[in-house]
Amino acid sequence: MVAKVSTVAFQGIEAVPVDVQVQISSGIVAFTIVGLPDKAVAESRERVRSALTAAGLSLPAKRITVNLAPADLPKEGSHYDLPIALGLLAAMGVLPGDILNRYCVLGELSLDGTVTSVAGTLPAAMAANAAGLGLICPQTGGGEAAWAAQDLDILAAGNLVQIVNHIKGTQVLTRPEARMAEDPGDLPDLVDVKGQELAKRAIEVAAAGGHHMLMVGPPGAGKSMLASRLPSILPPMDAGEMLDVSMIASVAGELSGGRLSRRRPFRAPHHSASQAALVGGGLRARPGEMALAHNGVLFLDELPEFQGRVLESLRQPMESGQTVIARANHHVTYPARFQLVAAMNPCRCGMAGEPGFACRRGPRCASDYQAKLSGPLLDRLDIQIELPALKATDLTLPAPSETSADVAARVARARQTQHMRYRQADAQNVRTNAQADGKLLDRFARPDEAGLSLLRDAADALNLSARGYHRILRVARTIADLDDAEQMTRIHVGEALSYRQRPFGIQSAA
Ligand SMILES: Nc1ncnc2c1ncn2[C@@H]1O[C@H](COP(=O)(O)OP(=O)(O)OP(=O)(O)O)[C@@H](O)[C@H]1O
Ligand SMILES: [Mg+2]
Repeated sequence: MVAKVSTVAFQGIEAVPVDVQVQISSGIVAFTIVGLPDKAVAESRERVRSALTAAGLSLPAKRITVNLAPADLPKEGSHYDLPIALGLLAAMGVLPGDILNRYCVLGELSLDGTVTSVAGTLPAAMAANAAGLGLICPQTGGGEAAWAAQDLDILAAGNLVQIVNHIKGTQVLTRPEARMAEDPGDLPDLVDVKGQELAKRAIEVAAAGGHHMLMVGPPGAGKSMLASRLPSILPPMDAGEMLDVSMIASVAGELSGGRLSRRRPFRAPHHSASQAALVGGGLRARPGEMALAHNGVLFLDELPEFQGRVLESLRQPMESGQTVIARANHHVTYPARFQLVAAMNPCRCGMAGEPGFACRRGPRCASDYQAKLSGPLLDRLDIQIELPALKATDLTLPAPSETSADVAARVARARQTQHMRYRQADAQNVRTNAQADGKLLDRFARPDEAGLSLLRDAADALNLSARGYHRILRVARTIADLDDAEQMTRIHVGEALSYRQRPFGIQSAA
């Protein structure tokens, strides 16, 4: 007899159905797993054997064959332990196969029979729900699985014996509750930043429209400080956005305690990060920092210090909103609509352009340093601003009265306006001005006569690319939205243009 248990394989955030087929037949005593298992799956034999022993059961001295179908799909990860163990129990006649067939199963086993947490419980729960199945998962994953649907039958078990007892009806497992992460509520506040009014305004515009941003300034001007305050002014995610973000975090194994959060991701990888760390890849094609920053912020501090290849790998996802990981026989795609915020010094010594400072290496200090950034990358950064060094007198000023909460309220209102506008226009997946394409901009971002003539003159003078032209329109639209203005005027276009001046005359390699 062949026992069957449903489970899943992950391809990005998609959970592909996989059947675990277990056959116990007479013949030479053996335990084999076939169906393209990776090392972790092949080793599952030992964990399953020990977990069954711990539960007081032993494997029959027969030939055991486990097939993971479809046979041509690579199976990676440790979540096949539990479906294999339950399939064996069904094949041994310990559990009724017809009840097991109503569930999709995933979980790792430890030697003592404990079911330990695995990555990807949330996407697996979504897939199970779509297929009309229930879910058997580790206890720690119950909180996230419960988000998939209110009526999804979930068995979140701490160990193998609990599952056996539940199915046999001797001990009932209660359905887990959908869990939210508690808001720690102590984000750094904008009120701590003294002076730098222009930069504060720019960061508000960037937050409101989801625009990519570059800050350039000498050491200690407050670039990292400002960027770390961005999360405090970004509006919380709605339920749909939260699920998208949590699916990626779940596949990466980063949903701590199976709790979901409405706070937008803020990822700040160190500049020594590799290309795989940003794009994703490696074992199980894990999502990289770009995908983990989906719907949130990717902050790259000390931008020119990143490897050139890493920086160039940002270009395509910034346009398409997704990262693609090429594997030997297939591609894995993750959504990656992030807002890039970057900070850098104008040169190696950091003091270029400072009044009264003469660099010994002259203009080459700046040009060599800035040449690490390519033209196309700089072209994608809608808002580029200069942060001058603060004077001691600025620091002794009283703290500004405007807090992050004040700015956050304006940002939330502007985002709401954009969301409504693009929803009424039936624009799928467009929520912010930064995501609007040329067609939407033609419709919603037309400046008045005076604004148009300013834009035309500036496009000639600044030698704007077509992309640069659209980016100015997007930023101007956001500024008008912050102003609650339906019509974009010369003032809005003017401010948007001011964010396009290359700070410190930044020149790229291209
Ligand atoms: N505008 C400011 N208001 C109050 N404190 C500030 C301001 N700017 C800088 N500081 C102080 O200086 C410290 C260093 O600032 P920050 O790390 O943001 O500098 P930076 O511009 O990122 O420098 P670097 O180029 O060296 O990375 C902050 O932690 C803060 O204490
Ligand atoms: Mg810094």
